[in-house]
Amino acid sequence: MKAIAYALLVAVYILQARCEEQCSLPADCFTKWEEVCGELFPSSLCNVMCPKGCNLGERIRGTGTYTGDSAICRAYVHATGTDGGFVAAMGTEDKRFFIGSSLNGIRSESTGARSTSFAFLEEENECGGCQLGEICTDVGEGKKACVLPLDCNANWDNSCEDYNRNGTCLVMCPAGCTRGSSVWGTDIYRTASSICRAAVHSNADLAKGGIVTVVAQGEQASLAGTHRNGVGTMGHYGDIDQSFSIARSSEACGGCEAFETCQDLGDGQFGCVLSLDCRQTWEDSCKVRYGQEKCRVLCPEGCKNGGGIYGSDIYTSNSAVCRAAAHAIPDMKNGGVVNVLSQGQQQGFAGTVRNEIGSGAYYKPKPETFSFVETTSACATAGTPCGPEQTCQDVGDGKLGCVLQLDCRIYWGITCKSHYGDGPCRVICPSGCKSGGGVWGTDIYSNVSAVCRAAVHAVPDLNEGGVVTALPQGEQVHFASTVRNEVTTGRMFKRWPETFSFAEATSACKEAGLNCEPHQTCHVHEDGKKSCVMAVDCYSRWSDTCKFQHGEDNCRVQCPAGCVKGGSVHGSDVYTNTSAVCRAAVHAISGMKSGGLVTATAQGGRLTFPGSVRNDVSSGNFHRKWDESFAFVETTSACAAAGLTCAPHETCVEMGEKEPPVCAMQLDCWVKWADTCKHLYGDKPCP
Ligand SMILES: *[C@@H]1O[C@H](CO)[C@@H](O)[C@H](O)[C@H]1NC(C)=O
Ligand SMILES: *[C@@H]1O[C@H](CO)[C@@H](O)[C@H](O)[C@H]1NC(C)=O
Ligand SMILES: *[C@@H]1O[C@H](CO)[C@@H](O)[C@H](O)[C@H]1NC(C)=O
Repeated sequence: MKAIAYALLVAVYILQARCEEQCSLPADCFTKWEEVCGELFPSSLCNVMCPKGCNLGERIRGTGTYTGDSAICRAYVHATGTDGGFVAAMGTEDKRFFIGSSLNGIRSESTGARSTSFAFLEEENECGGCQLGEICTDVGEGKKACVLPLDCNANWDNSCEDYNRNGTCLVMCPAGCTRGSSVWGTDIYRTASSICRAAVHSNADLAKGGIVTVVAQGEQASLAGTHRNGVGTMGHYGDIDQSFSIARSSEACGGCEAFETCQDLGDGQFGCVLSLDCRQTWEDSCKVRYGQEKCRVLCPEGCKNGGGIYGSDIYTSNSAVCRAAAHAIPDMKNGGVVNVLSQGQQQGFAGTVRNEIGSGAYYKPKPETFSFVETTSACATAGTPCGPEQTCQDVGDGKLGCVLQLDCRIYWGITCKSHYGDGPCRVICPSGCKSGGGVWGTDIYSNVSAVCRAAVHAVPDLNEGGVVTALPQGEQVHFASTVRNEVTTGRMFKRWPETFSFAEATSACKEAGLNCEPHQTCHVHEDGKKSCVMAVDCYSRWSDTCKFQHGEDNCRVQCPAGCVKGGSVHGSDVYTNTSAVCRAAVHAISGMKSGGLVTATAQGGRLTFPGSVRNDVSSGNFHRKWDESFAFVETTSACAAAGLTCAPHETCVEMGEKEPPVCAMQLDCWVKWADTCKHLYGDKPCP
């Protein structure tokens, strides 16, 4: 019966269709939209005449947009507050949610997707006309505005995208949106995020719902995932085209940027900070927001894990800021506010473990880097401000000092040299640097040597790490390869302008009142006496060592074992300047095969250098005038003990048990009288 009656009504309506907008379908407070408009005008305009008094009647579902089975005239009162009259409704499509609310004395219910729905066309209302689905409602301060009702799942893409005016979208959020669909970001959110949940994340007061102004924010490089006000958001790393923020009215900070958070900084102070998560890098956060300016960030707790970090105290621009903060600053494991400074180009980055976080090493230049003001604040408070590259550490005796943190591989040229040029470089070395990067030299090392591994080589007891001071040294022509403290260094014969040594290397001698030269080492004799000596290898030549270091008289040389092999040697007892000192020592002095100390002294010119085989070393002969040569004080010590003083070119020959030793000159089968006997002894007998 009802269907027939309605068909009649429709027929009347169609007959009257010519009478344009005055024509309308009759409805009462129980008539559902689908009964009156749904069949004839499912997706177009449908005019209905409503009676008064529809605050009672059939139930309705939705706000702004209603399900097709809602009573049209009651829904109209709910949406507009107007009781009865001419109503223009429009079928709507693709609605995924219907949010229930109490408006104008009527309660509507919430529900999920329905096949049919409708909204009211409000071209002239108190708000000056709203879009389909919006309601004109009180937005505070006595103002009315068109508002889009949302539920806790609606996101920008399926709501504000079509409703924003100049990038601003006014929405009505229900209470309880701590739950709802996912949210990405912090202060600025990805458009796929639930708007009303994002609103609670942004402002705790919005947990009870209300009118929210959503602002389009355009492209973003990365978004932080954080926990706030009972809402956990996800991070998003990589560029996105569109985003939104929740507008803030009044706050303690008095106006932060949309991407900032107003944060209690303690002592009643509030300030705008950039909220980050444990993965966001400096170049995707601070740099995007503030360029090279100081960046105040709020870090969450738990950044022991997170994005990769490279460096120590100064980090590469692609390092995760908050994880770097937890690495650099001891009490950052619980999160907090830190000040980040841009540091510009750096040559190299030490990888270290601090506060249970390991940073990666990077031994190439990076044009953009950052550090934290707080890294060295303990030293600043103690009146000794540090540089940004430094860390404030216990430097012994419980005193705080500024030091440069290194790892076991980073080399002089990209740390000490790049930070301090020709000045001293106080560093802190980690433990375990007997393994690490390459090292060239002994006591003085080339600029491409790993500073901390060289320190283990040069300074006793440094394998457990500690503070040492590296000093730049001038040009060297030779770097000796030696084994010390389980570190074997490399050998290099090359004129090399940039080198370094350690202030602490010879401190044992300094305590004994001896000031060793940088190229010297402090030798502790069996009787505990100390002396400054030069450590060389089996290839080190006189010209590159004693001669180069200006120690031509009584040049105390520490020889390693095994110099039966080594560099070439020319002469006997007196050797050419190009001869390897320690191999010559094995040749000249019996008992030097296992190494030890010898004293070499310059000998000036000779006309010839005879070769000979002694102590398993065969020296070459050189029968030409040559201006620089050397000999050893110890060569003739057996004769000296017997009361005989041999000349430097003489050797002490043992004559057996019965006879005393004699001093004699070593010749070979080519040596001429004039170059030797005549030259050295004149008319005297020639032994
Ligand atoms: C939109 O923004 C433009 C430029 O900022 C302004 O001229 C215009 O009045 C705004 N329109 C509305 C509806 O706010
Ligand atoms: C090391 O020193 C050499 C020679 O002075 C120089 O050419 C080179 O650039 C330096 N290397 C570094 C990394 O400083
Ligand atoms: C060795 O001495 C000669 C002079 O006899 C000198 O010309 C030469 O430069 C010296 N060699 C080195 C490597 O210093």
